[in-house]
Amino acid sequence: MLFISDVDISNKRVILRCDFNVPIENEKVMDNTKIKNSVKTIKYLLDNNNSVVLMSHLGRIKNKEDKEKYTLKPVITLLEELLNKNIQFASSPVGMKTLAKVKKLKKGELLLIENTRYCDFPTELESKNDIELSRYWSKFGDVFVVDAFGSLHRTHASVTGISDFLPTYFGFLVKEELDNLSLVTKNISHPFGIFMGGAKVDDKLKYIKNLLTRCDYLLVGGGIANSFLYASGYDVGDSLKTESEEVLSELKVLLNKYKEKIVLPIDFVIDNQKILDLNIKSIAKYLRYMRKCKTIFINGTCGVFEDEKYAKGTKNFLEGIASINAIKIAGGGDAINAINKFNLGHTFTFLSSGGGASLEYISSLSLEAISYILSKKAK
Ligand code: 3PG
Repeated sequence: MLFISDVDISNKRVILRCDFNVPIENEKVMDNTKIKNSVKTIKYLLDNNNSVVLMSHLGRIKNKEDKEKYTLKPVITLLEELLNKNIQFASSPVGMKTLAKVKKLKKGELLLIENTRYCDFPTELESKNDIELSRYWSKFGDVFVVDAFGSLHRTHASVTGISDFLPTYFGFLVKEELDNLSLVTKNISHPFGIFMGGAKVDDKLKYIKNLLTRCDYLLVGGGIANSFLYASGYDVGDSLKTESEEVLSELKVLLNKYKEKIVLPIDFVIDNQKILDLNIKSIAKYLRYMRKCKTIFINGTCGVFEDEKYAKGTKNFLEGIASINAIKIAGGGDAINAINKFNLGHTFTFLSSGGGASLEYISSLSLEAISYILSKKAK
């Protein structure tokens, strides 16, 4: 794998794929971790007399309204503050005007391109790694640098497709993430405990299966816990859970196969027939397991922590984790937001900016985008 520090990238126009997929409310960025994480690579490229074309996705674009909702504009102010530099903006990821802005860019200047996923509506060109879109975007620069660690589980046009047409290297954030995540991928100190929360068990099933072969305990929260409980015959009312019979029968198989490893909650905070948080006994049970561990990985939260009424489980769990002496890594937006909200960041060994990406890396020991880019290079 070649990183930007291994080659000479100077006097070029560089396309830099970042992950600016951040929570935005009322046009304000609510968590700036991912933006801060991008600064080192941007500065390095500018210091080496390059012009930089910044690209990123934001949210998921399924209709016209999503386009208004998921504009990257709010990122500009924050990034300008962090870099102490003016940033130009192209309000469409494609088109003559955008290309003209790119071509006019001078050395040392920065241009942010609007959300690459605008190209997912009406046809999923970005997400399907469309070759023509990739070819078009590759005209934005002479070199392609991928620093969007959080997107490395995706083979999308702006993450991988551009690499079909340009020399491609990885940035400092990718390096830092891979180096730190090696604590949970290589020579792991056992027992290894994983907590996995989050809404969608269907998306995460492949990770769950792999992780169960590598960890000693898998503790679950959120929709994942509800789905496991439902699969084991527990009435979870209207709680968020999988609707897929196929997934439910796979969960049943896993519950049988990994009886000793899968740890389920035992009490809940319920509102309107919905499980919205884990309660005291569940948290105490989870912490008993985690205290046995030498390595801990956390992805997701115990409940809807954004709402004060359902934040207690996540808070108590994370505070308990904070007091455990182990290698502790957390990954993904929700977990990081919660950890920051409760001021516990300093108690973790590493906070990964990638949710799906860190899960994919830890569970399968590879990342689809890296494999794609390296396989093209090998040809
Ligand atoms: C993330 O926030 O995990 C990344 O930005 C990836 O986002 P995605 O799941 O929408 O591809």
